[in-house]
Amino acid sequence: MSVPFVDLVGQFEDIGDEVMQAMERVMRGARFILGEEVEQCEAAFAQFCGVPHCVGVANGTDALHLALRALDIGPGDEVITAANSFIATAIGIASVGATPVFVDVNPQDYNLDVQYLEAALTPRTKAILPVHLYGQTADMDPILEFAKKHGLLVIEDACQAHGAQYHGRPAGSFGDAACFSFYPGKNLGGYGDGGAVVTHRDDVAKKIRLLRNYGQKQKNDFTCLGFNSRLDTVQAAVLLVKLRYLEQWNEARRISAGLYGEALADCDLVLPQEMPGRQHVYHLYVVQHEERDELLRTLTGKGIQCGIHYPTPIPHTLPFQGARMVPDGVPVCTELSRRIVSLPMCPKLTPQQILRVAETVEAFQPSASGVAS
Ligand SMILES: Cc1ncc(COP(=O)(O)O)c(C=O)c1O
Repeated sequence: MSVPFVDLVGQFEDIGDEVMQAMERVMRGARFILGEEVEQCEAAFAQFCGVPHCVGVANGTDALHLALRALDIGPGDEVITAANSFIATAIGIASVGATPVFVDVNPQDYNLDVQYLEAALTPRTKAILPVHLYGQTADMDPILEFAKKHGLLVIEDACQAHGAQYHGRPAGSFGDAACFSFYPGKNLGGYGDGGAVVTHRDDVAKKIRLLRNYGQKQKNDFTCLGFNSRLDTVQAAVLLVKLRYLEQWNEARRISAGLYGEALADCDLVLPQEMPGRQHVYHLYVVQHEERDELLRTLTGKGIQCGIHYPTPIPHTLPFQGARMVPDGVPVCTELSRRIVSLPMCPKLTPQQILRVAETVEAFQPSASGVAS
């Protein structure tokens, strides 16, 4: 039995009729750019996140770029962020000419370690950009408190955390702005690229609406230098259908995580922890193993698709070489990047598939040479 990492084919079998009807309505109406489904999707997702505004954009990277630009972050400004994330987090910061400062993550939730905020602060610090990685929010209370004390902006990277909660509040409802990706494999994903910025700030929403559409207030009324970064009407129509299932799908992920926890309890792995007061939505189910590379080869060889999120801390990648790290280097993130593996996780994962993964991990015997047999 092979186990896919994510089963989008199976998901389409469940919701295909609804999706096709929604897409057909867009085709027949021919409002492909900023059609009514975009507004409907924005309203529904804003409500889901518990904020008054959502602005659909072309992808999550653009959501970060436009949110930072709308908040007037630019050259000379420093933005504190986590070393452990997809590189797009840092690309968003660099794309406005600001400087990312990478802080290490904590070994419990793998998110930005708040004990380093003080050391990361300089007179140039303008914002903190925490990432809610793998589907669990960062520790937002101390981050918000620190930001308030020092007059910093907060932008959440919630690209992996649709529906996650922190003390009962949804991811995306904490910062001056929060950024989401609707990349197909996300907990809420389209059939192509998509993204959104959500915010409780009227001024930020207004600015991003301009920025995403060439800086136009109305047709040919150009009020600022803008970009072309709109959420497609077709994607909005798909997302509207999928949003109705998101809570149910997140619950299925949480049940699968519980089953993994039981099935893997006696294996030589470090399992993910749901922190007190947080609701994890398991975008990824990330475990640690001392012989990660060999385990990964064994699982892959037996048809169990896995991933590594992420194999290189962002400040160790070529584009961000020389960036400041706090503390000196990012030892926890570096160690994690050597030990972590993401096991299959999606709402369609079955208990049988989970058992198959667990049996394979249990039977795994690392060889002394580190080469899988
Ligand atoms: C944490 C994080 N930030 C940003 C992004 C960028 O989103 P996108 O791929 O939609 O540009 C992603 C997704 O790939 C992500 O996982």
